[in-house]
Parts: sequence; C-alpha cells; structure tokens
Amino acid sequence: MKIQIAPSLLSADFLELGRDLAMLNENADIIHLDIMDGTFVPNISFGFSVVEAVAKAARIPTDAHFMVTNPEKWVERCAACGVNMMSFHLEAAGRRTRAILRDIRSRGMKAGLAINPDVPVEKLFPYIGDADYFLIMSVFAGFGGQKFIYESLDRVWELRQKLSRKGDGALIEVDGGVNGGNAAALAEAGADILVAGSSVFRSEDPAKTISALRNCRLPR
Ligand code: DX5
Ligand code: ZN
Repeated sequence: MKIQIAPSLLSADFLELGRDLAMLNENADIIHLDIMDGTFVPNISFGFSVVEAVAKAARIPTDAHFMVTNPEKWVERCAACGVNMMSFHLEAAGRRTRAILRDIRSRGMKAGLAINPDVPVEKLFPYIGDADYFLIMSVFAGFGGQKFIYESLDRVWELRQKLSRKGDGALIEVDGGVNGGNAAALAEAGADILVAGSSVFRSEDPAKTISALRNCRLPR
C-alpha cells in the first residue's frame, strides 16, 4: 500500500490558513489536527472553532489527534465537526480505552489509539480489532519541531509484525520529527501514514516536500 502523508496544521501559518489549506487539499492525503489541552501536554493548540472550519473546507480526510485528559468528553463534538479520524492517548484513557474506541467508531469516524515514546508498544496489542489505526509518537507529544526518536522504528516494526500475525488491517501512523531523512526507514518498518509538521511547512516548497515524502520508499 502507498504511504499517506498527513501534514500537521500546527506548523501552518495561521495568518494564511486558507492558503495553506488549499495547498493541503491539492497535495496531501490527510490533514492532521493536533488538539492539546495544557494538562495532558504542557502546551495548548487550537480548539473546535478551528477544527470545524478546517473540516468544512477540507477536501481530503481530517485526522484529529487529541492530546488531552478525558478524551471521551470530546468524541461527540469531534464527530459533529465532520472530522473523519479521531485518535486519543492510551495514557489518558486507561480503562476507558475500549469504550472510547467503540464510541468513535459508532459515530462514523475511524478510531485511532496513540502512545507516547515511553509507553511499551505491547500495551497497544489488546486493542487490535477495536482500532482502525494506531499512532506511534516518535517524539513526546506537545510540540512540533522536535527531533525524531530512532527507537520508534523498532516499535513500528513490532506492531506491524503483530498486526500481520493477527491478520488485522489497522493502519500505523507515525507522528513527530518525520522528514526526508527517516521517511523511507519508517515505510520499510511498516508505517502507513506519516504525520509531518515542520518538515513540510518550513520547507521552501511544501507541495514538493509532501510528494517527496510520499515517494520515500527505499529501492528493493
Ligand atoms: C506533536 C504533534 C505533532 C507535531 C508534528 O505533539 O502531535 O503532530 O505537530 O510536528 P513535527 O513534524 O514538526 O514534529
Ligand atoms: Zn499529532
């Protein structure tokens, strides 16, 4: 399967949001929306007014990544905004994880389960079957522009092996520090969706960077 590129709007120019959105509609596969509450992570991003406006203008799927405590509070609102994919963190949800995944699916969205780099990847395994995608953070959630953690490649590979053994079709999304220097290795390890913030929006030609990231597969 072809790798999908999900630029993170967090790194867009908020004074030129319409322009950046039009560029994503033309060139990207998915629009990644980072939602932070200042409690689960030491940062605050944007809220539902932005999410709703972007979802309305999006011609490609929207993917909301909730870095918040009590993610169950926001499922209904997220669906009402017209978002297509919603992920939240296992660390924030604990025992409520399965119920939240089911709630997300029942509202017609794809359900994603995310973990930070210090959570063992095996912790995701009990939710295989309940999630449409798994989000492996390759930096600690909270900020764009951080350095890619190389051990993430092993985590992606381990999850890919487990999904294959189980015959499960869930996708693997990787988020944090993704750029032209690690995209090929991520694809090789088994990633399906690459989130990229600063490497896309800080580049001279974001559209070109998106297609370069998409064509990152190493020659066999
Ligand atoms: C980090 C966010 C990421 C971030 C990625 O907490 O979840 O989506 O915006 O940005 P880069 O690609 O710059 O690491
Ligand atoms: Zn994200």
